[in-house]
Amino acid sequence: MPYSNREGDGLRSRSSKKLALVALASAGIWLAGCPGTQTEEAAVPPPDPVERGRYLVTVSACNDCHTPAKMGPHGLEPDTTRMLSGHPEDLVLEAPAASDGPWIWHGAATKTAFAGPWGISYATNLTPDEETGFGIWTEEMFIEAIRTGAHMGRGRPIMPPMPWKSYGKMTDEDLRAIFAYLQSIPPIKNDVPEGLSADE
Ligand code: HEC
Repeated sequence: MPYSNREGDGLRSRSSKKLALVALASAGIWLAGCPGTQTEEAAVPPPDPVERGRYLVTVSACNDCHTPAKMGPHGLEPDTTRMLSGHPEDLVLEAPAASDGPWIWHGAATKTAFAGPWGISYATNLTPDEETGFGIWTEEMFIEAIRTGAHMGRGRPIMPPMPWKSYGKMTDEDLRAIFAYLQSIPPIKNDVPEGLSADE
């Protein structure tokens, strides 16, 4: 048999080996996609609710209103020493003059107090402080408040700009995770003033 042919045979058998390997690999990929064969994935533990809550609070911008802002080198930035503690109790603000537009709502420099056609609202202390914060809240109260827009789940209407209608679309699991995270952060004593509704 001429040498060149033998080499040709060799090449052919090498490439059919390659083909067989590719076929095996694709069968493996196909099998991995079949239900019941994903043993590794099923063994992954569910995410820690506190960690999930931290993530949801970050991406849902709760800090943008509930953490007082201060001036930094690049403008307003959250004061991390007062994380989620709401409108600072020592910052007493006069009600701004009423306006009929087009600029009809106002926000304080801390981004924690707002005035508009609804009245005046101060971002709540969401830290687990027992007297001034979330310490006495139950998970049920929290979920009910966010779902219905009623203060503590049963009181007066929650005023703008708290976006409870959007957050109310979250799953129970997500809201429970947010509550678990809020209960896990350091408590900060800060007695936020009561909001004032426009009809008062
Ligand atoms: C755009 C500003 C803004 C953002 C963003 C925001 N809040 Fe608020 N939130 C407020 C204000 C203002 C109040 C006070 C409303 C009032 O007194 O009626 C409030 C009140 C609350 C209350 C108290 C409700 C009650 O029953 O009195 C809870 C709970 C709350 N916010 C949770 C959150 C959480 C959790 C997030 C993020 C997922 C968030 N907020 C994001 C502005 C905001």
